[in-house]
This record gives sequence, C-alpha cells and structure tokens, in this order.
Amino acid sequence: MDGNGRWAKARGLPRTAGHRRGVEAVREAVRTAADLRIPYLTLFAFSSENWNRPAEEVRDLMGLLKLFIRRDLADLHKEGVRVRVIGARDNLAADIRALLEEAESLTRDNTNMTVVVAFNYGARDEVARAMRRIAEKLASGDVSIEELSVETLDQHLDTAGIPDPDLIIRTSGELRLSNFLLWQAAYSEFAFLPCLWPDFDRKTFQDVVEEFATRDRRFGGISREIAS
Ligand code: IPE
Ligand code: MG
Repeated sequence: MDGNGRWAKARGLPRTAGHRRGVEAVREAVRTAADLRIPYLTLFAFSSENWNRPAEEVRDLMGLLKLFIRRDLADLHKEGVRVRVIGARDNLAADIRALLEEAESLTRDNTNMTVVVAFNYGARDEVARAMRRIAEKLASGDVSIEELSVETLDQHLDTAGIPDPDLIIRTSGELRLSNFLLWQAAYSEFAFLPCLWPDFDRKTFQDVVEEFATRDRRFGGISREIAS
C-alpha cells in the first residue's frame, strides 16, 4: 500500500490525511477481496524500516492502526474474517501488542477469509527471527541438521500455515518489493499499478485480479497449452 503521502501532497494536505484515506481504501479492499472469494489478503501496513520516518508520522501510523482495530475488529469478526499479524512484536508498544493479540484471538476460528496484517514487518528480519528459532531447536536437539529443508524455514516464518501469495500488488508506480515477503514471493505474480493507494478502489482491484487470471503460471515447468 504505497502512495498515501503523494496523494495528500497533490491536494495540499498533510501526509496524515493521506494515511486516513488509506484506511478507507483498506476497508474497501477487504470487502472487495471477500466478495471476490479471495481466501487470503495480506496488507503491508508498516515496515520494519518505517521507523526511519519522522516520529510524528510514526505516531500517526501507530494511532491509525489502533483506531482501525478498535473501530473495525467487531465488523471483521462478524464477516467471518480471520486476522493474522506478521512482523516483529517485541519492539512494539504494549497497547499495540495487546490489540494485535486481541484481533488474532477473537477471530482465530473464522473461516470466510484471512486478512494478514504485515505490521512492523520486514522479510529479512522475519528470516533472521526464523533462523534464531531454528537454531534454538538445533541446539536443544529438537531438530537435526539433516532435517533442515525448505519446509523447515516455511514453518518457522511468521507466515507459517499461510499459502505463498499468488499475486502481489504494489501501488504508486514504484517498481520494487521493499523487503516484503521475499522468500514467499518466489513464484508470485506482480502487478505494479500507477494509482496511489488511497485511489485503489473496487474497480481497480477487480481489474487487476481479472488480468492476473489470464497469466500463464508455469512454476518452472512449461505452459499447460504446450504440455497438453
Ligand atoms: C504508504 O504510503 C503507507 C505506508 C506505509 C504506511 P506512503 O506514506 O509511503 O506514501 P508516499 O510513498 O510518501 O507517497
Ligand atoms: Mg511510500
């Protein structure tokens, strides 16, 4: 979700206003994903590098997350949405941690769709934390070196149990991944859209999913057309 700041700047508004509109776009995106029967929607809300922003903006983004959970959690739960949060927890404020845990525990048995909130998330940090957890198991003898595999890392990442993303959408015209799901994106399709995140609406989402459905995904193999 990129481009909130530019959206605001283009209107002579403070960046805060862009983030607020960004939350509206999140609501619409979750509704659209549910209507399209998309089982997993991951939202990159705050990266492990976003701490480098001015303190005032960091505070604003933290405040918006709290506001979003307080205002929207009951509705999400009613809609059968399961919330999962990926990212580091230890350097988050206690009230934020508690809200994230509340969102996860309240909705853990919901089955309509899963919304994964990437908050304080960075893929390299995620891999480093997974590596530490695996090293602890090696040290205690729970896991042997011979057992280490692709699955071992999968199972120790924050995304354990969540399928790899089929489609990664980035708004605002930037052509980079910015430390998002590096391991999980091995065979993801990408859509880089010029529109700024606050302008990402139902139609834009539907169009990109429709275009995605026409892609020939080979996963290193050959085209289904050629194979048959
Ligand atoms: C994306 O918009 C939002 C989030 C992190 C949190 P930006 O804040 O990155 O907006 P630009 O890139 O400055 O336009
Ligand atoms: Mg940005």
